[in-house]
Amino acid sequence: MSYSIIAAIGKNRELGKDNDLIWHLPNDLKFFREVTTGKTIIMGRKTFDSLPKMLPNRKHIVISSSNNFNSEVKVYKDIKQLLLDYKNSLEELFVIGGASIYKQFIDIADKLYLTEVDAECLDASVYFPEFDKNNYEKTILKENEDNGIKYKHVLYKKL
Ligand SMILES: NC(=O)c1ccc[n+]([C@@H]2O[C@H](COP(=O)([O-])OP(=O)(O)OC[C@H]3O[C@@H](n4cnc5c(N)ncnc54)[C@H](OP(=O)(O)O)[C@@H]3O)[C@@H](O)[C@H]2O)c1
Repeated sequence: MSYSIIAAIGKNRELGKDNDLIWHLPNDLKFFREVTTGKTIIMGRKTFDSLPKMLPNRKHIVISSSNNFNSEVKVYKDIKQLLLDYKNSLEELFVIGGASIYKQFIDIADKLYLTEVDAECLDASVYFPEFDKNNYEKTILKENEDNGIKYKHVLYKKL
């Protein structure tokens, strides 16, 4: 099994505000779609609630203490059982947020696909966890820009 995190973060690791994304970056959403299409995506209940609809061609796993989801969603009440169930899987599983889920997977994931946005948000409500970049090989995959906001798609691979 392998876990990959995918997230868009600001200069101070800002992730979101009022249960929504901070920046509207259409080219980043396109990158997200390209990387995750055909894959299994894992998310917290609040991130699931923030989606306008189910994301096409992706298997959804939601972590939640409740069970109030449509039948297409696989629900886990805790991370432990999920890790056990996928222990022998050869799939690359994508952890798509939010902050509470990134925090629980940061030490487990061996790849981090981070969109590093060259901007700040002073009143963000959630942040990506701190991690030691010395433990990763860094590759800049692509530089991008939307609405005058510059950002880089960076892949951190655990050494
Ligand atoms: N920038 C990005 O790339 C990015 C990506 C994704 C999300 N976001 C942003 O992040 C924010 C949401 O993050 P968040 O941390 O507030 O919420 P979240 O991680 O999306 O969801 C939190 C919920 O997940 C469930 N949960 C988490 N850990 C659990 C565990 N161990 N066992 C059982 N349930 C667990 C709980 O659901 P229940 O309350 O139902 O029990 C909890 O309330 C939003 O602003 C969103 O837009 C940003």
